[in-house]
Amino acid sequence: MTKEIWTYLLLTGVALGVLGVTIRAQSFHLVGNHQDYAPTQPLAFSHRLHAGEMSIDCQYCHSGAETSRHAGIPATSVCMNCHKFVTSTFGAMQAEDRTATEEDRPVQPVISDELQKLYATLGLEGAEAIAAWNPLEVTPAKADSMEPMPWVKVHNLPDFVYFDHRPHVNVGLECQKCHGNVETMERIRQVETLAMGWCVNCHRKYSEIGVNAKPVHAPIDCTTCHY
Ligand code: HEC
Ligand code: HEC
Ligand code: HEC
Ligand code: HEC
Ligand code: HEC
Repeated sequence: MTKEIWTYLLLTGVALGVLGVTIRAQSFHLVGNHQDYAPTQPLAFSHRLHAGEMSIDCQYCHSGAETSRHAGIPATSVCMNCHKFVTSTFGAMQAEDRTATEEDRPVQPVISDELQKLYATLGLEGAEAIAAWNPLEVTPAKADSMEPMPWVKVHNLPDFVYFDHRPHVNVGLECQKCHGNVETMERIRQVETLAMGWCVNCHRKYSEIGVNAKPVHAPIDCTTCHY
């Protein structure tokens, strides 16, 4: 460690004493802060399919990354931009088309089990209700039968750490630098440790080399990341 850091350590000693106590009290609860943590989600949403195969931009769904501290998890209405029309896999819909032609009958709507879980959170039952869904027509009565999708949070920094997506994304760091190759993941996983050393080493590195050869402001003093 450099002399500078030890000076900070002394100056912030009292505050850190308090921090230390808080941390010991909290360490029990830091269960989510694990590398490779990949909890089962309430619905099998695939980043490989959406961000990989279909190349949907990360920020189409995580629009907060550039504009706010949190990248954000998309509301179900974002999914409905497509899934009002796409109610199953293409494979299942094509199969139904073929069967209907063979049996000389009208094509039946196909609603997959996974997507039905999505529709259920909006209180939608059946193909007609799905096709008629309009976010602008959510009355208070309808809102009562809606609930947010209970996604399980994957990344969990402790409360005493301050992280903000904005400086990182706006300076030109790709999401993949910190989240790995999300576009290949069937189920999302925490790739990095999120430990202090990970943050600090990266700040050191880019302070030396810059991002895209431009100088950056990536401090390593304690108050950058700790209140
Ligand atoms: C079509 C919408 C969509 C797109 C496109 C998308 N995501 Fe996601 N992302 C989600 C949803 C929904 C979740 C929560 C469910 C889950 O964890 O699978 C999520 C979760 C995540 C998480 C974990 C959040 C947590 O709980 O800690 C990360 C990290 C993430 N996405 C990064 C990315 C990156 C990077 C890209 C682009 C390569 C991307 N996402 C593209 C919808 C999307
Ligand atoms: C410098 C590293 C870094 C970069 C670059 C980065 N993230 Fe994150 N991301 C994190 C960390 C650290 C967390 C955990 C934050 C927390 O628990 O408060 C996180 C959390 C998330 C989450 C879940 C919590 C939230 O903030 O809503 C999503 C979703 C996410 N990131 C998506 C993205 C996307 C999309 C991009 C690119 C546009 C991106 N991240 C770029 C480090 C990064
Ligand atoms: C830009 C359009 C688009 C958006 C936005 C989108 N999807 Fe999809 N999704 C598709 C398409 C198209 C398919 C079918 C792909 C195929 O069959 O190859 C699909 C497939 C799926 C499947 C697999 C269906 C099955 O039966 O296995 C699930 C689950 C899913 N999406 C969930 C979501 C969720 C949750 C969101 C919102 C976070 C979302 N999608 C947002 C276009 C989209
Ligand atoms: C992939 C490299 C990388 C990682 C990992 C990283 N950072 Fe950064 N961080 C940067 C860069 C580069 C900047 C400078 C952005 C600029 O100059 O606008 C920065 C800036 C910041 C800032 C704004 C500083 C200021 O005063 O303007 C904060 C706060 C921050 N990082 C916190 C964190 C935390 C907390 C973590 C770990 C959870 C972390 N960072 C992980 C590269 C990284
Ligand atoms: C670039 C961001 C960043 C900077 C700068 C930083 N920290 Fe941290 N610190 C973190 C993160 C992230 C954690 C949470 C790590 C974890 O839970 O594994 C953490 C955790 C801690 C802890 C809890 C013990 C532990 O390892 O879990 C202490 C104490 C601490 N930091 C002190 C400091 C001191 C003192 C400084 C200044 C010399 C400092 N930090 C500078 C990001 C930072």
